[in-house]
Amino acid sequence: MSAPQPSKLAFVPFVSVENMMRLVNRIGVSTVLTELASYIEEDFGRWELFDKTPRVASHSAEGVIELMPTSDGIMYGFKYVNGHPKNMANGLQTVTALGLMSHVDNGYPALLTEMTLLTALRTAATSAMVAKHLAPTHSHTMAMIGNGAQSEFQALAMAALCGIKTLRLYDIDAAATNKLIQNLSGHGLELVACSSAQEAVEGAQIITTCTADKQLATILTDNMVGSGVHINAIGGDCPGKTELHHDILYRSDVFVEFEPQTRIEGEIQQVPADFPVSEMWKVINGESKGRTHDGQITLFDGVGFAIEDFSALRYIRDKIHNTAFYQELDMLADPDDPRDLFGMLQRARGDEK
Ligand SMILES: NC(=O)c1ccc[n+]([C@@H]2O[C@H](COP(=O)([O-])OP(=O)(O)OC[C@H]3O[C@@H](n4cnc5c(N)ncnc54)[C@H](O)[C@@H]3O)[C@@H](O)[C@H]2O)c1
Repeated sequence: MSAPQPSKLAFVPFVSVENMMRLVNRIGVSTVLTELASYIEEDFGRWELFDKTPRVASHSAEGVIELMPTSDGIMYGFKYVNGHPKNMANGLQTVTALGLMSHVDNGYPALLTEMTLLTALRTAATSAMVAKHLAPTHSHTMAMIGNGAQSEFQALAMAALCGIKTLRLYDIDAAATNKLIQNLSGHGLELVACSSAQEAVEGAQIITTCTADKQLATILTDNMVGSGVHINAIGGDCPGKTELHHDILYRSDVFVEFEPQTRIEGEIQQVPADFPVSEMWKVINGESKGRTHDGQITLFDGVGFAIEDFSALRYIRDKIHNTAFYQELDMLADPDDPRDLFGMLQRARGDEK
């Protein structure tokens, strides 16, 4: 007698890296970034519905491995993600990730997906969504400091959502800048390679810092930051890993995702616990002020929060519906008689003979 077939619910849609690339290329990267930004904005708009907790981090000397869970009461999602700045020197990604979304009412998974590409997309979509609310109107030039894996996504999202037309680029490794220029030529952006961070910020309305180094780094010093700019600081996202000189924080209005997590991981780990910050969901819902005057320096201290990954999972689940961009994984043991897990195992012995 052969083993009964798994029930329909046991098959979980799985989006491989290959299928994620096919899906994103079919839709178009800029369209994905724009659509993803509106999913994230929508979920920030219903912030109070979500379970929220700082991510669960396991630190080592080399990096960090984290779990990022949340739920809106209907669906539950979590991401597994690492951050290992030294990986790049060994030919490995600094950040890799995968994610899972489940039904809250029965706990059965509804989606398993690669999230390395998806994290780059959602991080860029979040940055641009935030910049749309905070950056000076008519921004056209962005300084992009750190030209690694995240950088092209950041650039395209800022172009699509905020009208950025010129990128002023700097990386300590010129090979990274050359790679970015090669990847983004033909995207309608003016690309200017600079020889220092100081040179890169000249004439920029938006400054993005996106470097990877597990230390209290000083990518930007106070004298480099003119009045009226928007800073999108996303590379400082771990205890002991920051990018900005703390004097910049005192001249800026600081905006965060989820304050309890950012106090641990963000640029604001450098300042006292009562340093004032605003959570972005309140700005989006009109409960807190965003940009109030031209000379104001706005600073998004972005560390990456679970709700952004939830939005990304929700987006991919919607997009793969009725497409060939996923496989069904026989992932859950799901016997016909729910109490007969052992019997299911025993009946499967027949298949091994
Ligand atoms: N906030 C978030 O949601 C979020 C999400 C993803 C990644 N990150 C963080 O963003 C950072 C970048 O990620 P990535 O995947 O692009 O990393 P990456 O290793 O691919 O690229 C980092 C780049 O920074 C450059 N760099 C290092 N120190 C520098 C300095 N002092 N000045 C200029 N350039 C410098 C490196 O040469 C490299 O090209 C990481 O720290 C990562 O943890 C944050």
